[in-house]
Amino acid sequence: MHKIWYHIARSGGISYHLDKNNPGNREPMTKASVPLPPGAKCTRCRQQAHIRLPQHHALFCPDCFVHFFHSAVVRAMKKFAVDSTVPILVAVSGGKDSLALWDVLHSLGYPTRGLHLSLGIKGFSEASAEAISAFARERNLPWVRYSLEDAFGYSVDEIRRRTRRKICSVCGLLKRQILNRFASRERSKVLATGHNLDDEAGRLLGNLMRHRTQYFEKQYPYLPSPHPMIPAKMKPLYRLDSVEILTYCSIRSIEPVGAKCPYSRGATSHNYKEALDFLESRMPGTKRDFLFSYVNGRQSPSADADFGTCRQCLQPTYADLCSVCSLANQLRDTAKQVESE
Ligand code: AMP
Ligand code: FES
Ligand code: ZN
Repeated sequence: MHKIWYHIARSGGISYHLDKNNPGNREPMTKASVPLPPGAKCTRCRQQAHIRLPQHHALFCPDCFVHFFHSAVVRAMKKFAVDSTVPILVAVSGGKDSLALWDVLHSLGYPTRGLHLSLGIKGFSEASAEAISAFARERNLPWVRYSLEDAFGYSVDEIRRRTRRKICSVCGLLKRQILNRFASRERSKVLATGHNLDDEAGRLLGNLMRHRTQYFEKQYPYLPSPHPMIPAKMKPLYRLDSVEILTYCSIRSIEPVGAKCPYSRGATSHNYKEALDFLESRMPGTKRDFLFSYVNGRQSPSADADFGTCRQCLQPTYADLCSVCSLANQLRDTAKQVESE
């Protein structure tokens, strides 16, 4: 598989193939009609270039592309209040973003450890764990795997059967909360996730379009720890887009899980990303300008510490009952109703 991606990188493709029947499928498409001609020179070392980044007005050879990629992460890390000797827990899903993130942090010399939450999605979860296991084994990196079903009582497949709520947003909520809890159990102070430029710019556009001002405060690539039981969160890939990450994976022989989550289909976030991809294709650089002008124009968020304790599970929460317990209670009530019918 990595050969295909390498081919994509070498042909300099930057546009996306948008599958109308499956908007979640944003496989990059090569601009086969515009391969880099022999003699095209790398902007950095003047050797033969294989990779075109129109948004940076740059052409790169594979080595200089890796240098560019690492520099973008170093630049991001400078924004984060993280001591380089404190081990970073990397939330790994098995996808391209989190494996690339883990690879780059490790290459830059940070002590890391992987944290994977097995969601219980038939076929997809097993394949994700295998991709992580192969990646970690080859690089001799430590990781730990927890199961959502053990931690919460239900797998994502089971939750989907029991609720009418959108499974992607329920799954997102559980991932956020439960990864926090395991990070705390692992005694980790910092949790890194693979959110990239497309994720962050898409999220910003969505929040602006709907004027969801309550989310603006947290729209930042670093969130300090607001409570001793909640780690600081960072997104070191926020300066890099999906195509750059795929290119990095291919050059570094990183093989992410091939399958997609079967439930990722109609997530609304894809619409905002597609809108930005359209603008980017007409005006290269728009996506980064949009996100960076926001991020650079504001202060880093403060750690609000107005927490109480959940009466059911004793985890920190703003409400009397945390969102995880509230969901668990709803699912149990559904089960009781079904039994009594
Ligand atoms: P997503 O919300 O699926 O786009 O994932 C965003 C980021 O959350 C990924 O890049 C990972 O860092 C992290 N993540 C997603 N799913 C998992 C998982 N099952 N276990 C651990 N981390 C995850
Ligand atoms: Fe959570 Fe797809 S990964 S629903
Ligand atoms: Zn609770």
